[in-house]
Formats: sequence, structure tokens, C-alpha cells
Amino acid sequence: MQRLPQPDAGITPEPIRPGIDVQINGEAFRHTGDPQMPLLWYLRDVLRLTGCKYACDRGECGACSVLLDGTLARACTLPMQELQGRSITTVEGLAQADGTLHPLQQAWIDEDAILCGYCQPGMLIAAADLLARKSDPSDDDIDGMKNLCRCGSHPRVRAAIRRAAAGMKGARK
Ligand code: FES
Repeated sequence: MQRLPQPDAGITPEPIRPGIDVQINGEAFRHTGDPQMPLLWYLRDVLRLTGCKYACDRGECGACSVLLDGTLARACTLPMQELQGRSITTVEGLAQADGTLHPLQQAWIDEDAILCGYCQPGMLIAAADLLARKSDPSDDDIDGMKNLCRCGSHPRVRAAIRRAAAGMKGARK
């Protein structure tokens, strides 16, 4: 009888990983791959949620911004092993389930705030974080968002955030 090929004795198989359970935009997922994989790559390469952008890869530009348990975070610096039981919102999760845009998304369109567009998902997430903390942000608050845009969209972004803030305030009355 032919012998089956045997693994090299020098190879130690990795133990089976228990998995990391995360909520992404309200849905439950289990990551069983490399625990050190940055969230950015899990979102883009595994889930195909490509709104989260790759740019500086060191937590500086904001293109990969997400909300982590409702607070602004950079997906490029977040290893999956730190996310057990945590909840992530990406730009794809801002709109309502029926497709109604978030007021910020609508304001972005109304103010034509998108130039090349690459940084805009991160801008939208940072703006959502800002409005969650400050319902009527000043220009200084808005300019304090640490999101880079090489097209210079900041004046339009500022106008869009002010428009969304005013609309959301009106809706609360
Ligand atoms: Fe993550 Fe720039 S790509 S902050």
C-alpha cells in the first residue's frame, strides 16, 4: 500500500484559532485569520468594504477612519486581536438600512464637497464623530479634524458639516 506523504517533522502546526468576534455595521463576523491583521485589511480584503481607504498606514491621515464603539479610530493601526466583542462602524454603515443617506452624506452631496473623493469616507466618519460630540461645532472644531485632503476640500467639508449640523438640529426640535 502506498504511504501518504507525511509533514516535515520540523513543522509545528499552528493551533486552531478560536476566532475574534466583531460587529461591523451591526452585523456579526468572526475573524479566524491572523490576529495581527489590521482592521483596515479585514474590512477591505475580507469583507470587501472598500470605503475604508489605505493611505499613510501609520494613523496620521485619517483615510481609514472608522468608529470603534462609537469613537473615532484609525483602522490601519488596529489589529484584529484588539477587537474581540467590539463594534465597528464604517462609512458603509452611516446610511439607514432602507438606503436613506445620513444627513452628513446628503450635505456632502448638496455642498459638492467631494473632489477626488479618496479621503472623503474618512472625512464623513470623522464628521459623524464630531457631531456626536458637538451638535453645533465651530469652524475651529471642524478644522481640528485630523483628516488630510490633498485636493483642498476643507472649505466645502466645513460647509457640509455646518449644513448637516443645522439640519440635524432642526430635526431634533
Ligand atoms: Fe490609516 Fe492614514 S491610512 S490613518
